[in-house]
Amino acid sequence: MRLQLVSKPPALEEDLREFLIACHGRIRSSLSSAAAAAKAAGGSVEADRLHVDAAREAGRFFRLALPLHAEDEDVSIAPRLRALGDAAVDDALDGMTRDHAPIEELAQIVAGRCEAMAATAQAPAELSSEVARLAALLEPHLDFEERVVFPVLGKLDDAVRRQIASEARERRRLAYGGTYGAKERS
Ligand SMILES: [Fe+2]
Ligand SMILES: [Fe+2]
Repeated sequence: MRLQLVSKPPALEEDLREFLIACHGRIRSSLSSAAAAAKAAGGSVEADRLHVDAAREAGRFFRLALPLHAEDEDVSIAPRLRALGDAAVDDALDGMTRDHAPIEELAQIVAGRCEAMAATAQAPAELSSEVARLAALLEPHLDFEERVVFPVLGKLDDAVRRQIASEARERRRLAYGGTYGAKERS
């Protein structure tokens, strides 16, 4: 039994927007895993192991993968979209990048709780409320990017989109070494 099903992302150059939306899918599934892990209250040995595994996976995602996704957006995407010279797009990008710091701060706290649960098989008391707070920050942020920011990627030249994709791939190669594409995707 698995708590979450995670689909394989498309090749980066194939469709940058689809890649980013797949990243958002993994953010949402990691939130669900952390929320499920936080509710673990004993039960069968098998259920406990599944919840601990969910905590380990969620902890790894929030520790390593979520910052890479934010870096894709802040470092690779935002400057290219700002170059379009559209004031409304600039405002949207301001909102997007402003959200990232508080999300990152709380995500690292949640990562630490999940790692503690993976190490002890005990759900930390704070995990449930912290995951709820993180979800309250992330859900409107992801929705905003999908509705307002990602559609603007279609205005970029193919060469620029390929450059963004190349930077995203290099970011993961540096973070994960040769294992990117096997299991550590973001
Ligand atoms: Fe973001
Ligand atoms: Fe995003």
